[in-house]
Amino acid sequence: MMLAQTLIDCRCPKCKKGSLTLDESILPVISKDVTDGQEIQEALLHCEYCNTLYPVVAGVAILVPNPLTYVAKNYSLICSLASQYISSLMFDYWSKHLGIFSENNTSSMDWNYDDPLSLSLYIFAHYDKITEFLDLNHPLRKLVDDEYGDWYERLLNLAKPYLRQQPKVLDIGCNVGGLIYRLAYLSQFVYGLDYSFGSVFTARCILLAQPCLQNIYHLHIEGVTYQERPISVERPNNVDIVVASAGNIPFELKYFDLVTAINLIDVIPNPDCFLDNVDSLLKNQGIFLTTDPYYWETDSSAIEQWIGGRPNMPSNEAMRTEVSKRFNLLEEQDIVPWVLRVYERHYRLYFNHHLVAQKR
Ligand SMILES: C[S@@+](CC[C@H](N)C(=O)[O-])C[C@H]1O[C@@H](n2cnc3c(N)ncnc32)[C@H](O)[C@@H]1O
Repeated sequence: MMLAQTLIDCRCPKCKKGSLTLDESILPVISKDVTDGQEIQEALLHCEYCNTLYPVVAGVAILVPNPLTYVAKNYSLICSLASQYISSLMFDYWSKHLGIFSENNTSSMDWNYDDPLSLSLYIFAHYDKITEFLDLNHPLRKLVDDEYGDWYERLLNLAKPYLRQQPKVLDIGCNVGGLIYRLAYLSQFVYGLDYSFGSVFTARCILLAQPCLQNIYHLHIEGVTYQERPISVERPNNVDIVVASAGNIPFELKYFDLVTAINLIDVIPNPDCFLDNVDSLLKNQGIFLTTDPYYWETDSSAIEQWIGGRPNMPSNEAMRTEVSKRFNLLEEQDIVPWVLRVYERHYRLYFNHHLVAQKR
């Protein structure tokens, strides 16, 4: 967690009122000097209003309303990725507050975003170049031609004409951070948030080299075979990424010039309420960029919550209607191919609906 900026901009995700300060009454703060300021490697953050304590673990701030439950549910994962960066005092604190718990981290979702295969799949999608990777005579090359180019950059191009100079940006559901990377070039500061500890930890390693640099990854070929590939990024100095939930966003209201939610709407429990939250995070005239393939599943949200996907409710029309209730629609593109590579013989092809809208 980058100390100066992030602490100023975060708000308690539980009471939504208090700002967060470093609390040294239970645990000492462990921080280190980095090129552009100070990085908090470990700490407890205290909400001055409701007194909730949020841990920063291996540089990852866990800003969810019930942080101890989050740690309990993700304990094995956190330890497997980051135990070498966690102090014995933090482990003592957890054992005191969590006692003996039986970890229940089985996700009901069909897709586990913390899974190494999922992380590698998204690293490929965000940082590798599918057009260069696929042989020219690969059958997919007809669809993924030079026009397809850099999918995330092309998506961003749709919103660029409407952006203020040096906007403050939030990418919700950022996964391993590829859109944050692209946004950093045109923004004053970019925050990313994701509910998956594995994704946030990986994004911070790639983009900030914190707590360690990740510049290679393993691309799944088939079975147990992998190809080691480089991740080449120029490290930005104006980004931070936290664990948080799209339903309880830990930032000040009316703070952002641009909010992005890419392939997120169909995986969160309450998409309609989420659109209200985006509205309240944006400054007046702020921009909302979203796209989705509307792969609705009851594991993610109740049918009653879906924006479309029901009889007489096509998702594109329903989403356009819901977005238009709160924002002025600026741009729309539908049936845009989005290709996700799973392994050598398995690619997922979605057809996305892009929208750019402006807060009234
Ligand atoms: C389909 S992936 C899209 C990732 C990325 N935006 C992209 O388009 O490549 C959805 C992401 O949303 C995250 N996510 C799911 N539910 C969430 C929630 N309630 N709050 C925050 N992030 C969530 C997942 O962990 C995952 O990284």
